[in-house]
Amino acid sequence: MNERNYSRVTEFVLLGLSSSKELQPFLFLIFSLLYLAILLGNFLIILTVTSDSRLHTPMYFLLANLSFIDMCVASFATPKMLADFLVERKTISFEACLAQIFCVHQFAGGEMVLLVSMAYDRYVAICKPLHYMTIMSRRVCITLVIIPWFVGFIHTMSQLAFTVNLPFCGPNQVDSFFCDLPLVTKLACTDTYFVSLLIVADSGVLTLSTFVFLVISYTVILITVRNRSSASMAKARSTLTAHITVVVLFFGPCIFIYAWPFNGYSVDKVLAVFYTIFTPILNPLIYTLRNKEVKAAMSKLRGRYLKPGQVSELIRNVLFM
Ligand SMILES: *[C@@H]1O[C@H](CO)[C@@H](O)[C@H](O)[C@H]1NC(C)=O
Repeated sequence: MNERNYSRVTEFVLLGLSSSKELQPFLFLIFSLLYLAILLGNFLIILTVTSDSRLHTPMYFLLANLSFIDMCVASFATPKMLADFLVERKTISFEACLAQIFCVHQFAGGEMVLLVSMAYDRYVAICKPLHYMTIMSRRVCITLVIIPWFVGFIHTMSQLAFTVNLPFCGPNQVDSFFCDLPLVTKLACTDTYFVSLLIVADSGVLTLSTFVFLVISYTVILITVRNRSSASMAKARSTLTAHITVVVLFFGPCIFIYAWPFNGYSVDKVLAVFYTIFTPILNPLIYTLRNKEVKAAMSKLRGRYLKPGQVSELIRNVLFM
């Protein structure tokens, strides 16, 4: 096609999570509640970790940073999805669509690498306990937080650079609730073989390699833990189970979407709900329900800001404003 001969698409149409009209109000309600829970839960983790000096350790700093990325992952697409449940024609401008592509790869890519940072922290704590304090210095800890954002940025820009200039000349229906790379490149009026290959090579390889790396490191850690006394083993195992649960639920859908190029796309949007909604809600659940230290810190926090009777009053005020 002649470069000058197409009229450029200025907006895309999102087909949304479900085409059923009756389901829209129901989905709106469910996902609004989930989104609220994500924001509240992760905000509470950050507040707890920053305000309690006993939680000022690398593991909890990394956890608070994971909560922050989780809020980002949940927020780049969900508010738009919620608004779209209420309207019939769900459109998104070309620029906003690119912004969503940028965000999903920046945040999700960052989260993957942050999970590697957290695994490294646990590896040092469990396999080299005597050197933990010297190895995990403040500088190392900050580096472990910055690298994920940096890798995420390189990762997303390397793909976006080849997407911005694709010619979009007519088809503009994106069969999902946000713009993602495989769905949008499919609409370009040109041979997208190279870009598709790039997506698999870039997103697929990042996803698979971090996943394999995490599986290996957690296996090493678990083998080390097995040879320990049962008391330290029980505590370590509970932390590790939490980490491994997050890793499996986050990576499962991502591997299926990006590293497996031959799938049907309608499955993809259901899977996308897993890493944009379900994983972000998981951290607060896992870490507040299972972790004694976090629970203790949270009740202390509550005691500091609110008298017992005030909690229910606050909830009442929020609900019936
Ligand atoms: C993220 O980690 C850094 C470095 O450890 C820490 O200073 C910062 O408070 C953490 N961020 C959040 C939101 O907790």
